[in-house]
Amino acid sequence: MEPRTTLVATMEAVKLRNLFLVFVVLTVSTVTAHIADFDEVWQNRAEEAMTAACQAYHPDPEKVINHFNKHVHKVTQGDNSTRRELHKYHGPCLATNPIDRCWRCQKNWAKNRMRLADCALGFGRHTTGGKGGKIYMVTDPSDNDLVNPKPGTLRHAVIQPEPLWIIFARNMVIRLSEELIFTSNKTVDARGANVHIAGGSGFTLQFVRNIIIHGLHIHDIKSGNGGLIRDSVNHYGFRSSSDGDGVSIFGATNIWIDHLSMSNCADGLIDVVEGSTAITISNCHFTHHNEVMLFGASDSYSGDSVMQITVAFNHFGQGMVQRMPRVRWGFVHVVNNDYTHWLMYAIGGSQHPTIISQGNRFIAPPNLAAKEVTKRDYAPESVWQSWLWRSEGDLMMDGAFFTQSGNSGQSYSKRDLITPKPGSYVPRLTRFSGSINCVPNSPC
Ligand SMILES: *[C@@H]1O[C@H](CO)[C@@H](O)[C@H](O)[C@H]1NC(C)=O
Ligand SMILES: *[C@@H]1O[C@H](CO)[C@@H](O)[C@H](O)[C@H]1NC(C)=O
Repeated sequence: MEPRTTLVATMEAVKLRNLFLVFVVLTVSTVTAHIADFDEVWQNRAEEAMTAACQAYHPDPEKVINHFNKHVHKVTQGDNSTRRELHKYHGPCLATNPIDRCWRCQKNWAKNRMRLADCALGFGRHTTGGKGGKIYMVTDPSDNDLVNPKPGTLRHAVIQPEPLWIIFARNMVIRLSEELIFTSNKTVDARGANVHIAGGSGFTLQFVRNIIIHGLHIHDIKSGNGGLIRDSVNHYGFRSSSDGDGVSIFGATNIWIDHLSMSNCADGLIDVVEGSTAITISNCHFTHHNEVMLFGASDSYSGDSVMQITVAFNHFGQGMVQRMPRVRWGFVHVVNNDYTHWLMYAIGGSQHPTIISQGNRFIAPPNLAAKEVTKRDYAPESVWQSWLWRSEGDLMMDGAFFTQSGNSGQSYSKRDLITPKPGSYVPRLTRFSGSINCVPNSPC
């Protein structure tokens, strides 16, 4: 067999296995984290979430990969600049990747905010958030009443039943008293204001679908004590203590996280667990954190086979240690990210996840023992050698190396899969990662 046929055959096998697991195993819910009273309301949400995950699961993940890489090529055509300027950029508006190109640099962005909902790429690309709903203006940074949140607060906004596009009246620091529990069909859009979620609890996206989170700073998140928390206008319940994740995605589908600046949370910056899928994490700037992103929390929870996630155009910067991401069971496309610092490793996993790493830049740390990008846990080589972990077009610097597996080191088929934009372009593609300063009536 030709190498490309072998690879496609391997991917077919992975798909079949995953489909089987998705439809057979996803009917069992094992963990009910932080829901102290798993009442009928939560049981119904959990069931609906599983149906949503099965519906959103893409049987041909390589089509999503192609779709993504095609858009990157379109935007970078004829553009050979691969440098990232070290100084702050002061020139005219510049959108260097296809997600940003879709909405940035439009003078009227503040009047046409919902344009953003058309811009996601990757597995989360059908996420529309609160598009078509009303604008909800957050005017009050306080978070004092968890059962009857005050109108004008972020907590009041995210529990409303209808689609909402949530924006901020001014710069603010919001210290959440306990985890912020979202309902479906919401966008949190911090453009035009400098908004920090800091010093308190983080975001919880549990058994919901269709959420966009854009443009916030989320940092110094602590674990919460739990207690009575309202999770929709019609329901509240007792929660046990929260972990201290920046964003916890739990049994949730169609999630797009874009242009966040995140650092220093008690647990993960972004954790994706319990049968979540159709997710894109893009354009974020991550710094100063140990366990950055955990995709799948349990080696025994095969429901995470449904997980399909795109990690693109992010900058993993200063003070990163490990898990960028660490994956179990699922399928992750890690593409055109910039890894400029890590202490232990960048990408890891257990339980035969599929990891397609394309066009990233990996700059290894000076420590000779930490040059390897990849790390596999709880399996001898005889077992992990069949996991599909591919590196294509990645730029390896300062001795970085990626240990491939799953198909004797052959590269992706040129005929069946579009080649990614190479890692040398990453400094440019990720140049405006993190929260960006947007001013109304001027290009962002
Ligand atoms: C970019 O590089 C290609 C191939 O090296 C070359 O043909 C093209 O003229 C270059 N484009 C620009 C704008 O410099
Ligand atoms: C979200 O919005 C869509 C379209 O408006 C609607 O069909 C769906 O029921 C909403 N989902 C939830 C969980 O409210």
